[in-house]
Amino acid sequence: MYRVLLCLGFLSPILSFSIPKQCKREDSACLEELANAAAKYINSGVPELGIEPLDPLIIEKQVGTVASLDYKFINRTIGGLSNCHIGKIKLNTDLSNLQYQLDCNKLVQRGKYELDGQLLIIPVHGKGDFTMMGGKYLFEYNLDLKKTKGSDGKTYLTIKNFKIKYDPREPLIFEFENLFNGQKELSSAIHNFAHDNWKDLADVLQEPVMNPAWERIFKNVNKFLKTLPVEDVLID
Ligand SMILES: *[C@@H]1O[C@H](CO)[C@@H](O)[C@H](O)[C@H]1NC(C)=O
Repeated sequence: MYRVLLCLGFLSPILSFSIPKQCKREDSACLEELANAAAKYINSGVPELGIEPLDPLIIEKQVGTVASLDYKFINRTIGGLSNCHIGKIKLNTDLSNLQYQLDCNKLVQRGKYELDGQLLIIPVHGKGDFTMMGGKYLFEYNLDLKKTKGSDGKTYLTIKNFKIKYDPREPLIFEFENLFNGQKELSSAIHNFAHDNWKDLADVLQEPVMNPAWERIFKNVNKFLKTLPVEDVLID
């Protein structure tokens, strides 16, 4: 038993997050370095903190309806988060709100889908494998934070809720196999329509389809924040 603990104790400095430097809360550049270092640490998962890998992030099941489209995704894999960059950070003085921008270059999602209903104005129906690829994509976050005191007397932050402004800068590419039971002409008509109208589709779909992914991500980020005392990171 002691040996196991000693081993873990020996390993943990290598595995744990090392704060690059302490920041003043109004020092956006410093916070940017800190946030990107933390994201890098979290993205590959931290099993000993119960943090699952975020790149790729796997969402086992997602079912929803948006406008008049019913959708279901199984084993949806979202890859590319670790190539995104966090910037334009604004942390308010009382630590109740955090705003920042995430700048992504290529997010790729794959999995199994079921679609039934209307895609904007045209009927769509199918079940099979899908791939969705995004190019340059900006996400603007507005997070409400909660402060709590730990048993060590230090302050910890938790993300209470989030709002996201989605801003896709480059066309999205959709590949849904086996639409209309594999009828090629109908399928290519839908794909052409989707590619011509990617921006309108993004406006309608991105929030309901992506928000469950961000919920998962922030849940994992909160596990990390529970281990990071504010006093160790921020200076006056
Ligand atoms: C989803 O992934 C799990 C785990 O890899 C697998 O057991 C399951 O069969 C997959 N489901 C589908 C519909 O592919």
